[in-house]
Amino acid sequence: MTLVKEGLVSKKEVQTCGFKVSEDSTEKRERSLYIESYGCQMNFSDSEIVASILEKQGFGTTSNVENADLIFINTCSIREKAEQTVRNRLNHFNGLKKRKPSLIVGVLGCMAERLKSKFLEEEKIVDLVVGPDAYRDLPKLVSEVDDGRKAVNVFLSREETYADITPVRLNSNGVTAFISIMRGCDNMCSFCVVPFTRGRERSRSPQSIIDEAKDLFSRGYREVTLLGQNVDSYKWSEEINNKAKLERSEVKEWVNFAQLLEMVAKVSPELRVRFSTSHPKDITDEVLHTMGRYENICNYIHLPAQSGNSRILKLMNRTYTREWYMNRIDAIRNILGEDCGVSSDMIAGFCTETEEEHRDTLTLMDYVKYDFSYMFYYSERPGTLAEKKYEDDILLEVKKRRLQEIIDKQREISLERNKRDIGKTFKVLAEGFSKKSKDYLQGRNSANKVIVFPKENYEKGDYVNVTVENCTTATLMGKASV
Ligand code: SAH
Ligand code: SF4
Ligand code: F3S
Repeated sequence: MTLVKEGLVSKKEVQTCGFKVSEDSTEKRERSLYIESYGCQMNFSDSEIVASILEKQGFGTTSNVENADLIFINTCSIREKAEQTVRNRLNHFNGLKKRKPSLIVGVLGCMAERLKSKFLEEEKIVDLVVGPDAYRDLPKLVSEVDDGRKAVNVFLSREETYADITPVRLNSNGVTAFISIMRGCDNMCSFCVVPFTRGRERSRSPQSIIDEAKDLFSRGYREVTLLGQNVDSYKWSEEINNKAKLERSEVKEWVNFAQLLEMVAKVSPELRVRFSTSHPKDITDEVLHTMGRYENICNYIHLPAQSGNSRILKLMNRTYTREWYMNRIDAIRNILGEDCGVSSDMIAGFCTETEEEHRDTLTLMDYVKYDFSYMFYYSERPGTLAEKKYEDDILLEVKKRRLQEIIDKQREISLERNKRDIGKTFKVLAEGFSKKSKDYLQGRNSANKVIVFPKENYEKGDYVNVTVENCTTATLMGKASV
């Protein structure tokens, strides 16, 4: 798997902005599909749904763009730079299309939703524009393109969750997988484009989530991450979602996130459960207590603060204050202990942010002691509340300097947090060889820290007790203990 970093961000950038390509299917198919995915884990997860829908139409996936009959780029709009990357890639594909005129190029995901048919005017190479809720329509849209027309579907749905589609796992290590539990977002953080590109929030049926987890476990997977923009507002009932009849009694009528978490944890004590993203305004003590009760629910919470200053948080429309956020952190430490992993997203240089307000972000970081963070400078997005209401008045060089201060602070804290782990023994789920050597395996502990250790006779998928001997800011190094 290749990752492209966007801007100045932390090393563990995999979740919020990466880059992935499809892999080669094992069976021979009529035509080949190459998918390149950008953005968050939700987008990567959607590409697996797209591959599944097109597989039924005779498309196999390929990791080599030169072999493709159909190129899809699953796009992200979160920051301007993410969109620029997509445009650069389209220029590259233009060269390929000149050599192979039958090649179909499609734009999927958030940028497709944001720009809609304008994309066809702006980028002549594009044949197909499909928003995140319209993937079921892909076979029809592709056949329209086959007939010589351009095709667009950017309809946003209030119901679509793709619950019945079994994703084709792309770039899988065979041990860890993502399960999408909800789609869309009903929060209106003023900086954020997601509510516009992903539509209204809706939850997927608990039964389909449990079935997917059971299926993954039976195929050897040992960890699932439940995905949503705001998992704490997961809410499902027969009446509000789909009106589908419940066939089995495992699921009660109303299910909240804490209950869903418990149901997934019960699939097997050998199946680890993680989740992302939690919203500080919504994370409940019930969720924290559920985490505490099950050893296989990992002791790790991604709880984006965005800023440490209450006035800025208000402008961001995050609907919590610095004090509220600190109180949530206190609850995490009280219920789950000091070793619970906590990470954040931070935005430097939001509209009107003063130096003093920026320093509040740094002191919040000192208070929380995040294990790591995804860090960005503010990028104004068209159509968002902030774009309409506030001036993007912090100079780029100031934004970059503040971001660098946040990154430096995080490095310091990550190292400090990692040093605390030296001498401790953790249960690690081995995910595969370490990046540097086949003599070493790597995996993560419950708190989501990457640990590298000598392979010996262990295999990926094994749980191994590893004693930490050394560390860097990003990784723990250790040895299996007997
Ligand atoms: N649902 C998640 C975030 C999804 S977007 C949540 O509420 O935390 C991932 C991260 O991108 C955000 O947490 C934020 O830190 C960052 N981000 C979003 N919009 C941005 C913008 N306009 N400029 C800079 N960073 C942004
Ligand atoms: Fe964006 Fe806020 Fe929704 Fe997260 S919670 S996706 S930051 S609007
Ligand atoms: Fe994700 Fe980017 Fe869309 S972060 S939801 S792919 S705008």
